Amino acid sequence: MRLTDKVHLIVSEYLQPGDLAVDATAGNGHDSLFLAEQVGKQGKVFAFDIQEQALNRTATHLREAGQEQQLYLIHRGHEHLRESLPRESIGQIKAILFNLGYLPHSDKTTITRQEHTLPALKQAREVLASDGIISVLAYRGHPGGQEEALAVRQCMTELAGDDLQLSILESPGPVLLLLAQHKHV
Ligand SMILES: C[S@@+](CC[C@H](N)C(=O)[O-])C[C@H]1O[C@@H](n2cnc3c(N)ncnc32)[C@H](O)[C@@H]1O
Repeated sequence: MRLTDKVHLIVSEYLQPGDLAVDATAGNGHDSLFLAEQVGKQGKVFAFDIQEQALNRTATHLREAGQEQQLYLIHRGHEHLRESLPRESIGQIKAILFNLGYLPHSDKTTITRQEHTLPALKQAREVLASDGIISVLAYRGHPGGQEEALAVRQCMTELAGDDLQLSILESPGPVLLLLAQHKHV
């Protein structure tokens, strides 16, 4: 099973219809569509990306699947996560997904960077519901990817505690890091 599918399998255990979720790196919208299907029409998916074309692709992808009603596009970096979310959603977000690296089928110079990813992770921890999950898929093949993955691992180790445990799933390619209560991971 691909790690992207594994993310969806694990995260689906944490989501119910009506929930709030964040896609911190919208890209082509595959994760946003998954989240939208899980939270349903009563829920909300806040999708961040710094590239307009990524948000356009995400909007189209969800529209074609009839799941655009619950999508809220945010054209800002995820380092502005907390201040970009509605006040009433703080502490209520059930799942926050990061899929790091570059937008597939696009230029490979616009990539996630640890100086943005690390503050975003700290804010993700602050806005997360007590029974929520943070998932980070970190690719290591592109320039800077290995360093970003190591920094993310260190940051998530520091964010873990009694209430949230860190799980790490290695693969020959990307590494998957999860912060959640240990019930399902
Ligand atoms: C690997 S792609 C995401 C794939 C996506 N999750 C999907 O399902 O198709 C990484 C995305 O992160 C975006 N990105 C880079 N830096 C960012 C930042 N600071 N905040 C939000 N998104 C960022 C890129 O523009 C790119 O679209």
